[in-house]
Amino acid sequence: MKYFLLLLLAAPAVDRVGFPEGYREKLRVLRTSEKTDKQEVKVIYGNEAAAAAKDGVYPYGSLLVMESRKAGAVTGLHVMRKERGFGEAYGPNRTGEWEYTEYKPDGSYITPPQKSEACATCHVKAGAAKDFVYGAGSASR
Ligand code: HEC
Repeated sequence: MKYFLLLLLAAPAVDRVGFPEGYREKLRVLRTSEKTDKQEVKVIYGNEAAAAAKDGVYPYGSLLVMESRKAGAVTGLHVMRKERGFGEAYGPNRTGEWEYTEYKPDGSYITPPQKSEACATCHVKAGAAKDFVYGAGSASR
């Protein structure tokens, strides 16, 4: 029954990513990405595991947070976490062992796990060679 439900949704039924409480203190800034026209800034944070990614391979335990800011205010947090066995529920759009969720700054959902198929569907295009991560994980780039 549970398996059937997972197939139906093609997304995880439970949140194994988790709201990254205190991410600004606990994580490192890996890079920033700006769209000058829209006053939008994205700041990408990672934990120690994510920062240690080599040759496009992220260790288990990697956590990436992309903070969106519009005119200075945080509008949302895109979060992806890699653990052994994660991601199976995305079926054909599986992106290795990552799972995804998106939160408002208060921890409520923008994209709950059950609707995170869209994340995988797009990140799959980043390719296995980059471990489905779009931006380079290195702090120096
Ligand atoms: C239409 C394609 C698309 C969709 C859908 C999408 N992403 Fe992304 N994501 C990107 C691109 C492109 C970047 C790089 C953005 C940049 O550097 O400005 C990115 C960056 C990220 C990053 C920073 C790490 C990286 O890959 O560079 C995280 C974390 C992330 N996305 C999570 C999510 C989550 C969670 C969702 C679903 C709620 C999602 N994404 C949906 C295309 C997408």
